Amino acid sequence: MILATALSYDDVLLVPKYSDIVSRKEVSITTELDCNRKFELPIISSPMDTITEAKMANAMHSKGGLGVIHRYNSIEEQTNLVRRVKHEHKAAAIGISGDYLERAAALIAAGAKILCLDVAHGHHILMKEALMKMKTLYGDDIHLMAGNVATKRGFEDLSKWGADSIRCNIGGGSICSTRIQTGHGVPGLHTILDCIQADIDRDVKIIADGGLRNSGDIVKALAAGADFVMVGSLLAGTFETPGEIINHGTQAGTKKKVYRGMASKEAQYDWRGRHSSNEGITTHVPYRGDVGSILDELANGIRSGFSYSGARNLTEFQINSEFIVQTPSGQVESKTHILDRLI
Ligand code: XMP
Repeated sequence: MILATALSYDDVLLVPKYSDIVSRKEVSITTELDCNRKFELPIISSPMDTITEAKMANAMHSKGGLGVIHRYNSIEEQTNLVRRVKHEHKAAAIGISGDYLERAAALIAAGAKILCLDVAHGHHILMKEALMKMKTLYGDDIHLMAGNVATKRGFEDLSKWGADSIRCNIGGGSICSTRIQTGHGVPGLHTILDCIQADIDRDVKIIADGGLRNSGDIVKALAAGADFVMVGSLLAGTFETPGEIINHGTQAGTKKKVYRGMASKEAQYDWRGRHSSNEGITTHVPYRGDVGSILDELANGIRSGFSYSGARNLTEFQINSEFIVQTPSGQVESKTHILDRLI
């Protein structure tokens, strides 16, 4: 048994480098999912029933990112949501068993061009069968996003089976309890640093999924080699997420929305009428208004991050960036710490 040390976002910092960038406007944060699909913003909203339906997908598109319509509904409901999405890159999730082929065909007929084979443990024989079947049926017409995986070996296998982009990270999301429930997972940053070393013969994109709490984490994920990040909690509670605004009182700041893991007991009951292993939680988050300003802030943070490494685009950034590991006292220093002193 080999015990490796695995680092996550708080364990590292990026070393600032000489920069000749005068304005953040000089920095491009453009990325691509494949040679036909370019995006101005390297952020994808999660296929979760409290994050992405048509409103969020349209908002993500208008800021240059991508939204993946969740699959926790009937085929008819999901295809109707896809039809309401305005952008060329319509993306929707499917499973890897049950009605997934029928669902895929209906989503493609409704205009979906990107299908996300969305399961908790993607390094699995059912994923192999589903990816191979989908590639045989649709060839390169449909972009196949798949996951999740936590290792280089998982990344290599899904690439071999036909995935065009892979969601990397297991159990690191804000609402995940997989690691608590099962003892399995790999810290998010380590997963990216591992997957980037995959020995594959085609360009398969890395999506750093879950556990990203601010633009700093996103910048670190991109520096480590991710082409995109996928986020839930960073967008949770906004106007564009599905679900009601709940009033907890009359004071300002008491409006909330629900954010929940898709493997939480509540979500499982809602979409399949029963629950088995609960690997997620349900919570209320503050209502945060329109998602547009949040995405603008994240984009500015990412641009600023690139400029600290003297990089004008993602390729330069990934070449220039240099990580250092910080000690626990470094971690304390890296957080705002005046409040600790006032206590
Ligand atoms: P964040 O941290 O952005 O994470 O809120 C969103 C990601 O979490 C994953 N996800 C889950 N993982 N149990 C899990 O272990 C769950 O119930 C669950 N629901 C979502 C998913 O990868 C998502 O993009």
